[in-house]
Amino acid sequence: MSSTLANIYAEDDENQAFNHKLFAAPKKEIWAIGGGKGGVGKSLTTANISICLALMGKRVVSIDLDLGGANLHTCLGTNIPEASLSDFLNRKVSHFQDLLTPTPIKNLSIISGAQDEFGMANMKQMQKAKILNHLEEIDADYIILDLGAGTTLNTLDFFIAADKGIMTTLPEPTAIENTYRFIKSVFHRKLKLCEELIEVNHLIDRAMNAKMNENISPADALQKLAQTNPHIQKILAREINDFAPKLIINQVRTQSDIDIGFSMKLICKKYFGFNLDYIGYLDYDQSVWQSVKKRKPLLTEFPNSILTSNFENIVNKLTN
Ligand SMILES: Nc1ncnc2c1ncn2[C@@H]1O[C@H](COP(=O)(O)OP(=O)(O)OP(=O)(O)O)[C@@H](O)[C@H]1O
Ligand SMILES: [Mg+2]
Repeated sequence: MSSTLANIYAEDDENQAFNHKLFAAPKKEIWAIGGGKGGVGKSLTTANISICLALMGKRVVSIDLDLGGANLHTCLGTNIPEASLSDFLNRKVSHFQDLLTPTPIKNLSIISGAQDEFGMANMKQMQKAKILNHLEEIDADYIILDLGAGTTLNTLDFFIAADKGIMTTLPEPTAIENTYRFIKSVFHRKLKLCEELIEVNHLIDRAMNAKMNENISPADALQKLAQTNPHIQKILAREINDFAPKLIINQVRTQSDIDIGFSMKLICKKYFGFNLDYIGYLDYDQSVWQSVKKRKPLLTEFPNSILTSNFENIVNKLTN
């Protein structure tokens, strides 16, 4: 888990003792799949990355954290699991492990999001910390989180808490715009969660709200802030270096669609100062709706499709 996770936990004193145990625990990787916009392939990506890892012999748990519109089970070819995260948070289920539901794919289980009025946006800080803590109880090699659309604090915190934060977007202006909004919100939240930067919190807010038309980017403004104090400079440099969200462009049809990822990488470096890690693209492929219609996972239903090889390339990159 990322070091920022400690700060999300730290807001919940009861969990302090648990943290020490957590950081001494054997390595398990948590990946979160997010993105600013709805319908950009987050659930498709979560499902197929999970399946890919499971087929490689890894023990995988996919968790549907899109508590407002949970549908990951359909992408994985299973029925709605009986118990959901809201049952756990409402204490109808006492052990987190009991939420694990096997899927038709060996090595792969799912934990379902809420199927009731319980909304992600309403999740309290304690409940979020409770879920993050219990991820540690899960016996798996990989935990893959399917996040909802938007930039609620809960979504941002799960994205930041993961070892790898992966965004999907489409090669179209509205989706790209929302992706920048999402990235900016995550970056801003990450800096705000850093305890060593608390004294300059208001200056970070100002830097992150810098506008291009004022001729200053957040990267320039943060650099100016760094120059005021060598300690702040060191911490900011560490936080910025640590931050390397990953990007997948989904539904590509042309080379220029693929190239959008490289442009976004350049813009993030110039405008925000951090490295966006462009890890690959997914072709637009008819096999997606064919598999969704059949309620079967794409990767096992169409093992020879272009999209399957796209997913294999992405997982190879993520695991190497
Ligand atoms: N590469 C692709 N080729 C063709 N269709 C695709 C592709 N990726 C996604 N789709 C279609 O787009 C729809 C949205 O995908 P998905 O449900 O994975 O997005 P999402 O980001 O999880 O959406 P939400 O924000 O609503 O949870 C799916 O119904 C799927 O049919
Ligand atoms: Mg989804």
